[in-house]
Amino acid sequence: MRQKAWEVLLVHVSRNNEVLLKHSLAVEIAMRAYAEKFDQDVEYWGAVGLLHDVDFEKYPDEHPAHAREILLSHGYENEFIIDVESHAREWGKERTLLQKTILAVDELTGFIIACAMVRPDKSLDNLEVKSVMKKLKDKAFARAVNRETIFESAEAMDIDLKEHIEFLTEALAKAVKDPLYQEVPLI
Ligand SMILES: [Fe+2]
Repeated sequence: MRQKAWEVLLVHVSRNNEVLLKHSLAVEIAMRAYAEKFDQDVEYWGAVGLLHDVDFEKYPDEHPAHAREILLSHGYENEFIIDVESHAREWGKERTLLQKTILAVDELTGFIIACAMVRPDKSLDNLEVKSVMKKLKDKAFARAVNRETIFESAEAMDIDLKEHIEFLTEALAKAVKDPLYQEVPLI
């Protein structure tokens, strides 16, 4: 399932769009880690994470409205497509655990990586939760990241924000050393 998702992603995201590829990989890592923690289907959650922005390069202004046609053309089932579509900020229905999780990791993974990048060692290994919390309060830092979404989505997951940050930082730090994630390095 992982190999197919990666191949599908590369059909719709160009190799030189490193920002989007790295973001997709970071969300995949986070989704796999949470699936394991919650005893869910790691492969499925990871594939939803990897493909959640599959239509973004071609349709940045209409995203994720084109995910359905793209994923259908690759044989993905309705449930999978709905899970991808659900990370739209406007979602009229109660979100499932997977759907709450993808929303809660979508922006935060990139924010954590941005916090690591400004460290002298540019590493996730020594990044402290309190430093990430401080930067969340600093509106000038990574200003494009919507803080409200981060706070509200963690709350919707019923998870303490500090624990959430710690969990994701560890998952990302581990993945940086994983052979699977060397093709497009996260950092
Ligand atoms: Fe995203």
